Amino acid sequence: MTMLIEPKIRGFICTTAHPTGCAENVREQIEYAKQHAHVHGPKKVLIIGASTGYGLASRIAAAFGSHAATIGVFFEKGASAKRTASAGWYNTAAFEEAARNANIYAKSINGDAFSQEIKNQTIELIKNDWQGGVDLVIYSLASPRRTESKTGTVYNSTLKPIGQAYTNHTVNVMTGEVFDITLDPATEEDIHHTEKVMGGEDWFDWMQCLSEHGLLAQGVKTLAYSYIGPELTFPIYRDGTIGAAKKHLYKTVNQIDTLLHSINGKALISVNKALVTQASSAIPVVPLYISILYKVMKNKNLHEGCIEQIARLFVEKMFSPAGIQTDDQEFIRLDDWEMRDDIQSEVSKLWASVNTQNLETLTDIQGYRHEFQKLFGFDIAAVNYAQEVDPVVHIPSIPEEVFS
Ligand code: NAI
Repeated sequence: MTMLIEPKIRGFICTTAHPTGCAENVREQIEYAKQHAHVHGPKKVLIIGASTGYGLASRIAAAFGSHAATIGVFFEKGASAKRTASAGWYNTAAFEEAARNANIYAKSINGDAFSQEIKNQTIELIKNDWQGGVDLVIYSLASPRRTESKTGTVYNSTLKPIGQAYTNHTVNVMTGEVFDITLDPATEEDIHHTEKVMGGEDWFDWMQCLSEHGLLAQGVKTLAYSYIGPELTFPIYRDGTIGAAKKHLYKTVNQIDTLLHSINGKALISVNKALVTQASSAIPVVPLYISILYKVMKNKNLHEGCIEQIARLFVEKMFSPAGIQTDDQEFIRLDDWEMRDDIQSEVSKLWASVNTQNLETLTDIQGYRHEFQKLFGFDIAAVNYAQEVDPVVHIPSIPEEVFS
């Protein structure tokens, strides 16, 4: 059955997605990766959180930059009689089709990555399909909650400051209203829950599972993504509940390094640039910061999206002939351009004067809106939205009967 599909935006989520638009988005990223992500890099890559944002870009860069076989794990929804599939579902369908056409192995597992069941499914698939084990594991989950598999306890992550309330500007992206928001400080429970969801525990569990089953190749690398950002967002990001979870992630690096010692493996953190994704649009204050950042970085020709960031990660920071490039804390810094003094001093100036009246001129709010809609396959010039499409799209490697 075909239908017209329009964006239905509620706050910071869009409840519909467009299959042709998502496929176009993936196609553009594949084209970029073919041109710019060439490395003698990994050959068998497991990506956890592979369907949107940084994880999807990582999968595309691995497959089309270094011709790697990929297994992608994610939590998405197929279409039903009443609703479209989620964007990550359509993205994956388009990715797998392109990979197959290019003779590149690509299989996907849809379900809760925190669960033992999904870990077991992934292990079975790797055992059956990949000899010699995985040589790169990318952990790119962004989730609001986790059900701990051992205990069944549900943890909810929050985006709150720690210690004291925080007031700053924020924007309603769709109406363009700029206003001050005050966020109450987190409780101890909020902090603990956010660490449980977005910290490193589940990353470690994945690596331990893979290691126990002997599925990690000699010299395996594993990578998780983080963000630091400028002082103006410290209370809500670096020093807030999500920052506490990221600190937990950093500590996990040592634990994983110990686990991988005998096979000469290495865990790494890449600190990435702030970008419009489903996860970042949920953080108060950050969308206004991103709108200003985009304006400044585009003016200086330094703007990058997910695929540009990950191509640079692969080519210059991870698989360059000079070896892995890190700072003195052993972080890979893909936020190096974002954090440049000239960029941040302009952002600060604009931040001090932005309001509802000057939002359209001082910031790249239009670019933000465009990127936000594009995440769901909308507002893309190459797509004819007046044409009806079939919302039911099959992901080649996922058995239809399980999710219909
Ligand atoms: P995103 O929302 O685009 O992607 C999240 C991915 O996780 C999707 O593939 C989704 O299906 C998957 N997922 C969520 N819950 C799941 C579950 N229970 N089981 C299996 N899969 C699940 O997020 P984004 O922004 O790409 O974030 C990925 C990582 O990058 C996060 O660690 C985030 O903190 C980090 N990061 C993001 C930045 C940004 O500005 N967006 C900046 C720097 C780091």
